[in-house]
Amino acid sequence: MITNKRYITDNSIENSYSESVSTLHRKEFAQFFTPFPIADLMAKWILGNDNLKTILEPAFGLGVFSRAILNRKKDVEIKGFEVDSIIFKNAKQYFNNTKNCNLILQDYMYNDWKNKYDGIICNPPYFKFHDYDNKNILKEIETNLKCKLNGFTNLYTLFLLKSIHQLSQNGRCAYIVPSEFLNSDYGKLVKQYLIKSKTLRHIIVIDFEENIFDDALTTASIILCANDNLTEKVQFSNIKSMQDLNKIDILIREYPNLSDTKQVYLLSDLNPDIKWKAYYQKQNSINFKNLVPFSTYAKVVRGIATGSNGYFTFNISKAKEYSIDEQNLLPCICSAKDVKNSFFTSQDFEKLKLNDKAIFLFNAQNLNDKNVVSYIKKGESDKIDKKYLTASRKPWHSIENRQPAPIWVSVFNRTGLRFIRNEANISNLTSFHCVYLKESDLFSKVNIDLLFAYLLSNTAKLIFTDQAREYGNGLQKFEPNDLNKALMLNINLLDNDSVNKILYFYNLYKQGFDCIGEIDKILIENFTISSYQ
Ligand SMILES: C[S@@+](CC[C@H](N)C(=O)[O-])C[C@H]1O[C@@H](n2cnc3c(N)ncnc32)[C@H](O)[C@@H]1O
Repeated sequence: MITNKRYITDNSIENSYSESVSTLHRKEFAQFFTPFPIADLMAKWILGNDNLKTILEPAFGLGVFSRAILNRKKDVEIKGFEVDSIIFKNAKQYFNNTKNCNLILQDYMYNDWKNKYDGIICNPPYFKFHDYDNKNILKEIETNLKCKLNGFTNLYTLFLLKSIHQLSQNGRCAYIVPSEFLNSDYGKLVKQYLIKSKTLRHIIVIDFEENIFDDALTTASIILCANDNLTEKVQFSNIKSMQDLNKIDILIREYPNLSDTKQVYLLSDLNPDIKWKAYYQKQNSINFKNLVPFSTYAKVVRGIATGSNGYFTFNISKAKEYSIDEQNLLPCICSAKDVKNSFFTSQDFEKLKLNDKAIFLFNAQNLNDKNVVSYIKKGESDKIDKKYLTASRKPWHSIENRQPAPIWVSVFNRTGLRFIRNEANISNLTSFHCVYLKESDLFSKVNIDLLFAYLLSNTAKLIFTDQAREYGNGLQKFEPNDLNKALMLNINLLDNDSVNKILYFYNLYKQGFDCIGEIDKILIENFTISSYQ
């Protein structure tokens, strides 16, 4: 329970609530909770309003934002809206000693239109379009805001627009929402409203490797607005980890001085009709039509992580030294440097073997073999079994069960992604990711040669770059999900003639002719948006 002095400054309440109700219930109300450090950061934006007296939390949940605010400032009046009676009861218990926090069990979208607030802070519900009463809510918004919206507008943006409308003079608003609307069709009119309201100040795109909301597919963005006349600029920022929250802390403290250098635009220069990714990420895909996620055709997963490459990897001399026979060794590419070409064949594998390169993993199959047993014992005396990954495996020396992937893709790159056709059908460590073809759709089962020909093209690499994580010095990294979410040209739309031409050049390339440029030409002819040609 919360006393007047202490507020819970972590997500322990949310965690125990999540354990106490079914996932179905949480889904029904779109209950994804904001990590406390992010809530606290957003609270700081609200607290930046020197005349902060009244605060609204429109999708209260368990009041993570109110806790963050009250922890820093007690003399404020808070109003919270919530529609789920179960979470509402929980929240009431926690806040029952907080006299200045008024919780109301009502739908925010249909209530409270007349009131204005000095601070509005929210993680609104995110529903799939069909899961809510969009028609009536849209009508309610259009009547009150006197604006026209797209029939597909998602509810979370309607929350945002209503809140902007409810800001008092100098009022501030902080929302954490899916980034989707920044780049989708229905978002155009929402962006138009944001520009027209002249309140938009910061868009902070959260680009963490792990999604911060358990199972939401889209990345999140923090939208900071202020109903003041202190600046006409908007800044876009990208944060890649919790550590980056510090950078945003500084931006908030320095407001209204927005840095002049990076991703800062005049509000009046923002174009609501384009994908706003263009303002926070260099985009190549916008020049092409008929794009689909790479996950339509393939699934990318990371390679095998051993937990101790020094122990698990073997070359032939090490195998001789410990008398481990090939029955207990798994053929595996251990270093990206050992793969020179786009096709890795059995001959390449044999060559590496002859050159005594590490191309096996210890894979204890025959536990009656005394040499295998003594190598396991050696691992235990070297404490390999106590390492982070090995300690969580049973038995500790087993290796992850991954089928050899037909295609590999390099993780770190300086000159664009490198795809390799694994014709030797061997396993790979984490310097490559595994690319498995999707076979679920019988009608459009992809031709692996056509897909691989596409992946070799410069066009494919250019489009994939939109999703790369930049590490400075031109070094790019792709996590498996960056690739799964990345776009590719929908090669199933190619006519037979184009497919045959691509396969013809692909075969020539395989024989050593440099004709990737020809494949690019065919792709550009078929997929470039005409104004760009
Ligand atoms: C995404 S959760 C956020 C909860 C909390 N503010 C946080 O950030 O951890 C959204 C909350 O809004 C509630 N909610 C959903 N639709 C609502 C509506 N129309 N009006 C008010 N609350 C709503 C849900 O029950 C849920 O508790």
